[in-house]
Amino acid sequence: MATQNPKGTRDFLPKDERVQQYIFSKWRETCLAFGYEPYEGPTFEHLELYTDKSGEEIVDQLYAFQDKSGRNIALRPEMTPTLARMVAAQGHSLPKPVKWFSMPRLFRYERAQKGRLREFFQLNMDILGAQSLDAETDLLLAICALMRNFGFKPTDFRIGLSNRRLLNALLEQLGVENRNAVYAALDRRAKIGEEAFGELLAEAGMSPEARKTLNDAMGCASLGELEPFCVSDEARAALDELRFVLGRMAALGHGESVGLDLNIVRGLAYYTGLVFEVFDAAKSMRAVAGGGRYDDLCAKLGGEKVTGVGFGMGDVVLKDLLEEHGLLPDVSRDRLDYWLVSFDGDVETLFRTAEALRAKGRRVAHPLELRKFAKQMQEADRSGAAKVLMLGSDKAPEGSVEVKDLRDGSQGVVPLDQL
Ligand code: HAM
Repeated sequence: MATQNPKGTRDFLPKDERVQQYIFSKWRETCLAFGYEPYEGPTFEHLELYTDKSGEEIVDQLYAFQDKSGRNIALRPEMTPTLARMVAAQGHSLPKPVKWFSMPRLFRYERAQKGRLREFFQLNMDILGAQSLDAETDLLLAICALMRNFGFKPTDFRIGLSNRRLLNALLEQLGVENRNAVYAALDRRAKIGEEAFGELLAEAGMSPEARKTLNDAMGCASLGELEPFCVSDEARAALDELRFVLGRMAALGHGESVGLDLNIVRGLAYYTGLVFEVFDAAKSMRAVAGGGRYDDLCAKLGGEKVTGVGFGMGDVVLKDLLEEHGLLPDVSRDRLDYWLVSFDGDVETLFRTAEALRAKGRRVAHPLELRKFAKQMQEADRSGAAKVLMLGSDKAPEGSVEVKDLRDGSQGVVPLDQL
């Protein structure tokens, strides 16, 4: 028992952590390329931050406890409430819009299963204080860039776009009173099939005609098909939002990765407008990312009204996807530039040579006890270094060193000042 980690958590041995760091570095690189700035927050917050704002699903999954002073605290299950709290607290002093990113460690008491753990990392990219739907464009382009930078082709993934405002307007048109029950049913529609969906709608008190209309609307694959269902001004305005962003993404050359997907409802309560999720093309895994617009969250936290839009991308599904596509690079040789071995020298010579190379900015390490040469070479192979330098080799004249490249096995003699 004492040697086992808690269910739904992971130990990252150095070989695993290298992969993790690869993911983090791609996330960071892409965010910086789009001009998003890094931020962080606390790993635990006041419980009410989530119980009031996040929605039932997440509240059921909270790791919550009372601290020694009796305060109700929760480990953060997501970053958005913290971000909105931080921005709300700054008020007018913060020039808007802000484009911020973070890579928090999050905690959710979920049933551990493929793609779902109890502790995971999630890239968050958000824009606060931008009214225009081109905030959505910027974020969707960033998702495409993230996927491209990991090596995915535009046809390997799909960003499904929907609109909470549109769903709301359709339910309004249909006179639905029990909206939460209908949202819950909509969220499950793709998984449970039309018949079970119809039953849930009936339980929520919808008439047979209203159920048929809603089901037909949800089955629309294009904006053209959806248009006749949008009768009210509100529904038509919401449809125009979808049209605008889909059109923009197509014009920018990302038409094949982005499309309408009305099955996307999103479990979180704070979304007010466009919502989206990113899946592998076959939709064989859970969503790799999800997000949307939340224009009321800052105001609900007691600040001024600051519009928001953003998404979270989880490391768990992403890593599964990278593995499935054979896109995880071999990072086993990236740790060190050089590992030193010695035919004849003493350990002090190794330290001295390593220090000289480090002074030139190289990453260098060596054994701390000199063993037989063959053993030293085995150690070199395990070291995670790109190359091994063999000090004291009689093949290398004064001022040079014998070098073996551990990636391709090639060997040669190189002048010391060229290292
Ligand atoms: P979310 O849909 O709850 O959204 O999470 C986004 C992504 O985080 C999911 O698509 C999934 O990849 C990953 N994820 C979620 N739960 C787990 C889990 N238990 N184990 C592993 N991965 C998980 C949010 O969290 C929103 N706060 C995102 C957002 C940012 N909206 C606006 N800005």
